[in-house]
Amino acid sequence: MMQAASSTAALPVLEVRDLSKRFGGLLALSDVNLNIHQGEVVALIGPNGAGKTTLFNCITSIYTPSEGQVVLRRPQGEECILNTHKPHEVTRLGMARTFQNIRLFQGMTVLENVMIARHCRTRAGVFGALLRPAWVRREERAIEEKSYTLLQYMGLESLYAEEARNLSYGQQRRLEIARALATEPFLLLLDEPAAGMNPQETLELKEMVLDIRKAFNLSVLLIEHDMSMVMSLSDRIYVMEYGCNIASGTPDEVRHNKQVIKAYLGEDDA
Ligand SMILES: Nc1ncnc2c1ncn2[C@@H]1O[C@H](COP(=O)(O)OP(=O)(O)OP(=O)(O)O)[C@@H](O)[C@H]1O
Ligand SMILES: [Mg+2]
Repeated sequence: MMQAASSTAALPVLEVRDLSKRFGGLLALSDVNLNIHQGEVVALIGPNGAGKTTLFNCITSIYTPSEGQVVLRRPQGEECILNTHKPHEVTRLGMARTFQNIRLFQGMTVLENVMIARHCRTRAGVFGALLRPAWVRREERAIEEKSYTLLQYMGLESLYAEEARNLSYGQQRRLEIARALATEPFLLLLDEPAAGMNPQETLELKEMVLDIRKAFNLSVLLIEHDMSMVMSLSDRIYVMEYGCNIASGTPDEVRHNKQVIKAYLGEDDA
């Protein structure tokens, strides 16, 4: 029994096995393999169109893979093979993500954006919200406090009453992360979190990612084009090109990999 528990702990929290995705005649992903262990920050890099976002969409059940499997192992050791799950069910299982194209409620305040995301973890249904008994009001108060705390982690607390549309691009990306955290994930997927940020904002974002990993016991998978961020933040890196894994390893291993250098230089040549 003890042995079973400790061997479970060593298994990855996310395992992508031989995953392929076809769009008509286009093979966007071809036999992709990837895993993330508890507490790791893993980066997914590769030229434009390599299939990175498509892989995120398959992992989070927005797309159904054509072949292969996505296995999620929750902190309690429970194993879920994602196949017929809906995206919101995947969120409830403990995987949260942000999007390459920011998805916020632009007309709502910063705090409301986080509070709404949190509702997947609350007890009050529609009737509770309408009748508002004391326990619903207490729950709402707790959501408000927790949401504000998440804004503090992402450096947005002074903007809590601002409409999301008034935030800078970098602030909106950080708000997306606060919203993802509100769902209480154990695994966080970030699709180009530093896109549109200046070098100072990118540096701050890196620190925030490390802070939240520690504070919320997270494992993180991120797609990112900013190489200084990728190299300094990641424990391991996977490199994709034309829908295939072409390399993986530590930042140092990947930096010196000939195929990786060629993929990036090849892109420059194009
Ligand atoms: N829903 C879809 N239908 C058809 N083709 C798609 C769809 N989604 C993605 N693709 C195609 O799959 C390939 C991989 O796209 P993807 O967006 O995953 O690349 P990416 O690595 O995220 O690129 P970028 O760095 O530019 O974001 C591209 O050729 C793209 O046009
Ligand atoms: Mg993408």
